[in-house]
Amino acid sequence: MLDPLTARDRFPILAECTYLNSCSLGALSHDATEELSRFLARWHARGAAAWYDEWLAKLDDLRAAAARVHGAGAGEVALLPSTSAALGVVSEAVPVEGRNRVVVSELDFPTLPYQWMVKPEIEVVRVPSDDGVTVDPERFAEVVDERTLFLATSHVFFSTGAVQDIARLATIARDAGAWSLIDGYQAPGQIPADVRAAGVDLYTSGPLKWLCGGPGLSYLYVREDVIPRLEPRITSWFAARDQFAFRADTFEYREDARRFELGTPSLPSVHIALGAHRLLEEVGFDRIHDRVRTLTARLITALEAAGWSLTVASLDSRSGIVMIRHDDPSAAVRDLESRGYVIDHRPGHVRASPHFYNTEAEVDAFVEALGETRS
Ligand SMILES: Cc1ncc(COP(=O)(O)O)c(C=O)c1O
Repeated sequence: MLDPLTARDRFPILAECTYLNSCSLGALSHDATEELSRFLARWHARGAAAWYDEWLAKLDDLRAAAARVHGAGAGEVALLPSTSAALGVVSEAVPVEGRNRVVVSELDFPTLPYQWMVKPEIEVVRVPSDDGVTVDPERFAEVVDERTLFLATSHVFFSTGAVQDIARLATIARDAGAWSLIDGYQAPGQIPADVRAAGVDLYTSGPLKWLCGGPGLSYLYVREDVIPRLEPRITSWFAARDQFAFRADTFEYREDARRFELGTPSLPSVHIALGAHRLLEEVGFDRIHDRVRTLTARLITALEAAGWSLTVASLDSRSGIVMIRHDDPSAAVRDLESRGYVIDHRPGHVRASPHFYNTEAEVDAFVEALGETRS
């Protein structure tokens, strides 16, 4: 086990600045760059032979690592180039068959509804947020019915950090005969994402943010019993049961989640993500979740004490994304950047997201520095 504060030394950027933007891009570790260097060295040394020596097995290693953090089986995870690609392949895997509605929420990341807004045969229904922070699951229950194909929404809202009860959402979808599809990009790595226990049908996420594994990849979880029922209408040789037979005259889907894959995954990204998963597992996800909770609570208490108005959920559905109302968020972010703070802004808000590698002192200093940006 690696102590979270000892693990700080594995992230060079933390010595250069106060990094509070992990919900956008997790920090890069030495472990990830070492794994990337190893990939490049193998490429120099072995060229294409490295596929068989090592790289095909690395793809399996990454599917397995992604499965562990999702509480899933390795055969339930596919590797895709982005969340949008994962959502797109799912949207082409389910026949409409009399159900032409997709229910989303108004707080979801736009790439989620976009998948169906471009399909004229689909009606997208947007569930409103009563408080602008979260969405009452019963609001979904009111509209998910026999016309619903998917209940498709977020695990953690990128816009407010609120955590949704995905087990309840899965039940609402199941009771109406609809599929549940959760965009979990903002969840694994900061909060538990036990997708099997939650009973969701499909779940997308990826290494980019809280898993500190960089861009170029996403993970698609498809529950074991759901896999054989879905036949994506966009596909690739990675999805073919006998991939290395190179038969162009016949096609059969694989039996596991790889049937959703769309060609050769980006190998540099695979290696970076593997190094990151290994480090985070060494720290331990329970300890990481505890640390994010502790630092977030400290940040919120300090901000409120300093008189800031926040857009955050109540304690039981809060995550490590903290939205701070600000008159001029982009100017504040620029000003703070010049003083060594990496944070972000969204309309009307400065956004801060502490991860396990941050310290209490960094959180306190950030609140102090933010106060100096007040107009
Ligand atoms: C919740 C959520 N979903 C989806 C995306 C977009 O993912 P991608 O660019 O991999 O399609 C983001 C990006 O920040 C996000 O926060």
